Amino acid sequence: MKPTPLKVHETRPSRPRTQRAGQRAHTLTQLPSDQDLVMRIIPMPADCNVNGDIFGGWVMAQVDLAGAVMAWRTVKGRLATVAVNEFVFKEPVMPGDLLSFFSKVEHVGRTSVSVSVEVFSEQLHNQGEYRKVTQARLTYVAIDVKGKPKSIPKAAASPAQSPAPGKKTLKSRRASQLAASGASPL
Ligand SMILES: CC(C)(COP(=O)(O)OP(=O)(O)OC[C@H]1O[C@@H](n2cnc3c(N)ncnc32)[C@H](O)[C@@H]1OP(=O)(O)O)[C@@H](O)C(=O)NCCC(=O)NCCS
Repeated sequence: MKPTPLKVHETRPSRPRTQRAGQRAHTLTQLPSDQDLVMRIIPMPADCNVNGDIFGGWVMAQVDLAGAVMAWRTVKGRLATVAVNEFVFKEPVMPGDLLSFFSKVEHVGRTSVSVSVEVFSEQLHNQGEYRKVTQARLTYVAIDVKGKPKSIPKAAASPAQSPAPGKKTLKSRRASQLAASGASPL
């Protein structure tokens, strides 16, 4: 009797991106090198809106947290978000995308710090291809124990916004870890 050939199920291609007519896909092959990687997260189906992509409010909350990292390094104390000065959802985010949040300090005032945040998505099945999905600018204020604005120490306003010399940034620490392990970036 002739053996029945095994039925091979085709793997489904990765889900295509929502793309509006005439819209070009802006795929990047590199993540920014002039900003700090402050956070990475994978949104889950529970974070979706009724369209099946990720709820904008969820993205905003993550961006607020990511922006706070650089502000926190500058203020080195309590702070509060005073304003979201710019927020652009450039492309939808899908559940399962790996989101990378990059940030840098744009301005240090008397009590406030303005930071930019850019969010890049990467799909499991298209690793190494990134899309800028969101960009934002936020302002944080240094506050005292009563929640009132407080002056930021002068040293914090100098160009040395990143951790003190000798201490590695998240980005360089990650690069060292990867080099040591021989693994590829997530
Ligand atoms: C943040 C807070 C303490 C600031 O108090 P305030 O009396 O409004 O402070 P000021 O008007 O003196 O402004 C403080 C700084 O914020 C800046 N600022 C205020 N509104 C801003 C805006 N819309 N965009 C950019 N910067 C702004 C001011 O320019 C100032 O900066 P500088 O000192 O570096 O020049 C107060 O507004 C507050 O408690 N807000 C609620 C915060 C909150 O609940 N956030 C969400 C959870 S973290």
